[in-house]
Amino acid sequence: MNSEKQRQIGKESPVLEVEHPQRIDRVHPVLEAEHLRKYFPVRQANPFSGRKIIHAVEDMSLSLYAGRAIALVGESGSGKTTVARMLARVYGPTAGTIHFRNQPVSLRNSTAALRKYYRHVQLIFQDPFSSLNMVHNVRYHLARPLHIHRHVHNKEQERAQVLALLEKVSLTPAEQFIEKFPYQLSGGQRQRVAIARALAARPQVLLADEPVSMLDVSIRLDILNLLLRLKNEENLALLFITHDIASARYFAEETLVMYAGQAVEGGPCEEVIQRPRHPYTRLLISAAPNPQRHLEASRIQAPQTERGRGEIPSLINPPTGCRFHPRCPHAMPICRQRVPGRTRLDNGHWTHCFLYGESTTPDWGHGGEAPETSPPSDKPQRE
Ligand SMILES: Nc1ncnc2c1ncn2[C@@H]1O[C@H](COP(=O)(O)OP(=O)(O)OP(=O)(O)O)[C@@H](O)[C@H]1O
Ligand code: SF4
Ligand SMILES: [Mg+2]
Repeated sequence: MNSEKQRQIGKESPVLEVEHPQRIDRVHPVLEAEHLRKYFPVRQANPFSGRKIIHAVEDMSLSLYAGRAIALVGESGSGKTTVARMLARVYGPTAGTIHFRNQPVSLRNSTAALRKYYRHVQLIFQDPFSSLNMVHNVRYHLARPLHIHRHVHNKEQERAQVLALLEKVSLTPAEQFIEKFPYQLSGGQRQRVAIARALAARPQVLLADEPVSMLDVSIRLDILNLLLRLKNEENLALLFITHDIASARYFAEETLVMYAGQAVEGGPCEEVIQRPRHPYTRLLISAAPNPQRHLEASRIQAPQTERGRGEIPSLINPPTGCRFHPRCPHAMPICRQRVPGRTRLDNGHWTHCFLYGESTTPDWGHGGEAPETSPPSDKPQRE
């Protein structure tokens, strides 16, 4: 099957007929990914040098709920964008499944079905400068998705809805923005247009890939507040990708920490940030820009050993066992040999680390469910 076909969504997939739900549902996920894996082949100049593969994402699972946000946190190169692109069906996963409203999103071919899936699951890019087309004005950018998804049928409806979208993202008075071109807007205004364009499709899921990282520090909070308001008003299931674990706490209900393509810790934001368990999460918190905010976290369990050592490893030949072991101040012999499975802690908090149990994931590469261990004591135990 060619890669274009692999990106397509199944023709019969009933998922795509689901309309926007009226009720908030905290039990059933809107979008659910299980054991996603993504490998990229490396292009090589020498065809005889052997096939190399980038192991960008390994065994990634997450569930997005209406009206709630998950913050996906990790260093550059940890695989955050690749996860978002698989969820948005920009990339087909190498392995794993995606369910939308409990229906499988299949790889079978249907352009019409793919368009409907795109309507429900919208991606906001990091760079508002390149995500808008400089030769088209704001009206064009917002009217296009309205027409593609058949939300408008004439010029009058188009104008009314474009104005309403501008109001929704607080670009007011809307009449003053509708004919402007991207080069006439500030970075923050462009990102508001990009958000309005995503909303034009009337999505249920918003995947925001570092939506403020390229903006001036002074306007980042405004854009975060806008996304927060829209999440509540539109009942959106939101994936918020960020380098900054501090903004995760402000923005999301849940935090998921990724390292070198793998999820290492997750749970409610307060739990993960106030009581980080995985040495990598503690490293991220100790490097957060506002140490005052995380004083308690560092007092609890982030000793001097959580200082950064080294960099994210090569994903062509990732480290054996726990991928964090070359950087980990607590690494033990077992960490080099075996992949830690998931250990459940208190209050929905979990981690993958031998400090909290001996569980392993022997078939990690095949997407097997990690066995679980009972919650450990707060104090890390060495072998
Ligand atoms: N299209 C691609 N082809 C080949 N390799 C890719 C591709 N996209 C991503 N990668 C590789 O996959 C790994 C994860 O990249 P990804 O962009 O998902 O990380 P990220 O966490 O989003 O990083 P950043 O914070 O810098 O945006 C990197 O090693 C990257 O080089
Ligand atoms: S499993 Fe071992 S190497 Fe990995 S984070 Fe835990 S202690 Fe460190
Ligand atoms: Mg990225």
